[in-house]
Amino acid sequence: MSIKFEKVGYTYSPDSPLEKLGLQDVSFELQDGSFTAIVGHTGSGKSTLMQHFNALLKPTVGQIEIADTLITPETTNKQLKNLRRHVSLVFQFPEAQLFENTVLDDIAFGPKNFGYSEEKAKESAQFWLTRVGLPSEIGERSPFELSGGQMRRVAIAGVMAYEPDILCLDEPAAGLDPRARQQMMNLFVDYQKEGHTVILVTHNMDDVVNYADDVLVMENGRLIKHDSPAEVFQNPEWLRQHYLEEPKASLFASQLHNFSFTKQPLTKSDLIKELEQNIKG
Ligand SMILES: Nc1ncnc2c1ncn2[C@@H]1O[C@H](COP(=O)(O)OP(=O)(O)OP(=O)(O)O)[C@@H](O)[C@H]1O
Ligand SMILES: [Mg+2]
Repeated sequence: MSIKFEKVGYTYSPDSPLEKLGLQDVSFELQDGSFTAIVGHTGSGKSTLMQHFNALLKPTVGQIEIADTLITPETTNKQLKNLRRHVSLVFQFPEAQLFENTVLDDIAFGPKNFGYSEEKAKESAQFWLTRVGLPSEIGERSPFELSGGQMRRVAIAGVMAYEPDILCLDEPAAGLDPRARQQMMNLFVDYQKEGHTVILVTHNMDDVVNYADDVLVMENGRLIKHDSPAEVFQNPEWLRQHYLEEPKASLFASQLHNFSFTKQPLTKSDLIKELEQNIKG
């Protein structure tokens, strides 16, 4: 049940003066249980691509196979209920979508919507409230009394509470402090380890090299590279040409002129290993 995009193109407002190309000729396949990062500079088409995973946008040309559903330009919304149960998309700033009176009701909304009994939805909401790192006491409070970071966690718990097979996240950690960002990344990695597929849009290249096993690089609505992080980040010159940042360890290594590296260090542990080898001589 892999995810397969075949020659997908998407045009915003076709045949109007506002016509704008969002995606062009995008083809790739992702494996079940993988952690894929989508990177690319601003306006490159990352969010447009993400919205195709749960068919919030349908391709203008081409087709997508995902969670046993085929999405083509002709697919109707009626055919998508099963897809939305299995693939869920967390937008940038998902806290804007909270609306229930209590935190637990908000988290339980998704599970109820997808057929959980009242009792099971509540149980799942309790579980995910603590799993995203919030104290169970806040369950009965209004989501609007929480801090921005807490609201973000409630919104993410609300999606994870019905355990979609494929979890798509558009810059979920934007604006969080480093510790909260780390906790959130751990949450997603654990979710992957439990057998789910995770797809993450991020501008943070350290998150990509630390957590992803597959990377899609977007530019001007096109997929310009699909490879492992080790391959994508191996060539700093290529990254610069495409306005992509280097991971911190890689940037640091390039300042160390008296050291020689067998390969470009991408993570902190790569860098330590390479430095130790240099010192041992
Ligand atoms: N609703 C829309 N109507 C028209 N054009 C749009 C719309 N949404 C996005 N676009 C255009 O499509 C292109 C891709 O936008 P998209 O939001 O997918 O980029 P992105 O890679 O997510 O950028 P960012 O890193 O800033 O979030 C951009 O040129 C953008 O202006
Ligand atoms: Mg975006």
